[in-house]
Amino acid sequence: MLHVNENYSKIKPTYLFAEIAHRVAAHQAKNPGAKIIRLGIGDVTEPLAPSIVAAMHRAVDDEAGRENFHGYGPEQGYAFLRDKIAKCDFQDRGMDIRSDEILVSDGAKCDCGNIQELFGTDVKIAVGDPVYPVYVDTNVMAGRGDIRLLPCTAENGFVPPPETAGDADIVYLCYPNNPTGAVATKAQLQAWVDWANAGKRLLLFDAAYEAFVRTPGIPRSIYECQGARTCAIEFRSYSKTAGFTGVRCGYTVVPDELVAYASDGSGVPLKPMWTRRQTTKFNGASYITQRGAEAIYSPEGQRETRATVDFYLGNAKLIREAMCAKGYTATGGVDSPYIWVGVGSKSGDAGDSWAFFDKLLAEANVVTTPGAGFGAAGEGYIRISAFNSRENVLEAISRLDKVL
Ligand code: MLT
Repeated sequence: MLHVNENYSKIKPTYLFAEIAHRVAAHQAKNPGAKIIRLGIGDVTEPLAPSIVAAMHRAVDDEAGRENFHGYGPEQGYAFLRDKIAKCDFQDRGMDIRSDEILVSDGAKCDCGNIQELFGTDVKIAVGDPVYPVYVDTNVMAGRGDIRLLPCTAENGFVPPPETAGDADIVYLCYPNNPTGAVATKAQLQAWVDWANAGKRLLLFDAAYEAFVRTPGIPRSIYECQGARTCAIEFRSYSKTAGFTGVRCGYTVVPDELVAYASDGSGVPLKPMWTRRQTTKFNGASYITQRGAEAIYSPEGQRETRATVDFYLGNAKLIREAMCAKGYTATGGVDSPYIWVGVGSKSGDAGDSWAFFDKLLAEANVVTTPGAGFGAAGEGYIRISAFNSRENVLEAISRLDKVL
């Protein structure tokens, strides 16, 4: 008998952003003339920076000749990129991370989803609620049904304290947060690090949106906290930092000290396990992609990518101010491309986030993401993404102004 993995019956049949894409496609089919503006999935719209494009063109030329041709690369990533990452993203900012602790991949989503393979099916997982659905769904697919939800509410500023995690062995944290756009202070992250170290627990820290932090003092990496090397894995992405959602590249940091425990109580280092996993199941990001990623760290690359992130932050400010002016509560949109809008916060409006999503799609042709799609505590909210052209953002704001 061909038995199916029944864990798949415990997750929603469609991934959140696939469900939204279906609804948008159905709306477009019914209204072929409608000019839909997409502020739903966090997908970038601005082109790659010129210095990145030039580096990728040079890499294509390398591949065109026998002399500089590259076939299979190192599964962990080329040294030219890992060395730049270690220096520019960590060492120059006072953090002690070495290039051999960095594993380059085709993006943070895959790494966040795959990392759970290193742990027993009986480990206790905790996630924020609302949450990026990948953390939950990948654990449920693997047979971990009992996932603790840490309420992220307006009252706690969408940053749950460690006391709420109870007996969890592994906690996923994401700051700047997807979906709420909230940021955690250094003291709040330090409390998580201290809690994890005190109980031999592990933090899985998703820093995909770190490039959006502009407020002085807000950490961009968990390794800014003392002791994080012994309790935290960090995921980084070039998707939002440098417009790589289509190019695909990111990396994961696994410090040498990190261990999980065998049944005899002995510590098993995680870096060799993750390396084993990646070298077995992954052939590395392409040479051309990694040359493009390397160019992010050149002075022009830094200037150009920062300017694009600033541009999206400008959009975020406009959206946030527009929603507040209409009488809604809004968080995020300051150190984050996401604005988390309390749809029940304005009297007279329904608090149902899917109903609000449908209303904005039907009446304004504007796509958002319903908060309930990120978990029960997301009910009553929608997430608006700032990734779009200025023209489209201004047009969306004007349409929302009319229908709200
Ligand atoms: C989002 O919209 O939450 C993200 O773009 C999805 C992703 O990065 O996978």
